[in-house]
Amino acid sequence: MEKQFNPTNEDLGNCVALEHVNTAVPDQQIATLFYVAGLGLTRDPYIMVELTNMWINIGRNQIHMPTRPPYKPEVLRGHTAIVLPSRQALLLRLAAVKDRLAGTQFGVHEASGYVDVISPWGNRLRCFEPDLERFGPIQIGMPYVEFDVPMGTADGIARFYREAIKAPSSVEKDAQGACARVQVGTMQYLLFRETDRPLPEYDGHHIAVYIADFSGPHRWLKERGLITLERGQYEWRFIDIVDPDTLKPLYRLEHEVRSVTNPLYSRPLINRNPDQTNINYVPGYDAIKPELDH
Ligand SMILES: [Fe+2]
Repeated sequence: MEKQFNPTNEDLGNCVALEHVNTAVPDQQIATLFYVAGLGLTRDPYIMVELTNMWINIGRNQIHMPTRPPYKPEVLRGHTAIVLPSRQALLLRLAAVKDRLAGTQFGVHEASGYVDVISPWGNRLRCFEPDLERFGPIQIGMPYVEFDVPMGTADGIARFYREAIKAPSSVEKDAQGACARVQVGTMQYLLFRETDRPLPEYDGHHIAVYIADFSGPHRWLKERGLITLERGQYEWRFIDIVDPDTLKPLYRLEHEVRSVTNPLYSRPLINRNPDQTNINYVPGYDAIKPELDH
């Protein structure tokens, strides 16, 4: 029988990649211990190699961590999902750094299907093993970021991304309540989950995305006074997510929006194999690939 294909499954909206999450940290050494040694991720060797910032590679994605006065950590209100090759190897690495992170907010919470790892400053990283059905062929990467949002905002947030950014979105309702799901790349999503828990004030952390139609959303936001920064030809930013009909502010989250013509788009990133040591070294296995072998 002839195989049936569904081309619409491959449609992508205007947002073609979620690249990084940016959370300031007060101490680069502790960040190195946690993100590089503990999580097993790789520091970008090419850019931001000083003591005032660190870019951490996660497959084709990154976490950016500037350190600058007043040295106040930024904490995302929700969690960042990370796919890593081996849960067991992750737990061993985290155990090895645990004592040196004593006195910080570092924590490891094992659950069925994932491990929640809390950074020294309280950021929650939900670590999954690769899951072809759920995440596609990601071996190491950032498939979604989930934000806690106030009750009654998920529908307006989903409409904002559809109308202002031209990103496909939907509202899902499950046992935990309503959640807006926005497609921001190939098998990449932003999730906005309603909660009745009190939320901390927005502290300035940001995310970075690439969009194909760069001027359309810019025009929409500019006409409504919502552009907060014009940073050269290839980047602009906004903070307020609003109801597209009433312009009522729903949530604050700075978006660093880049064009796909930005020279940084799809830059190759190095990912080391954290299992390699000087003791067990195997030639040829220094790197791991962002995607699983087919
Ligand atoms: Fe950024």
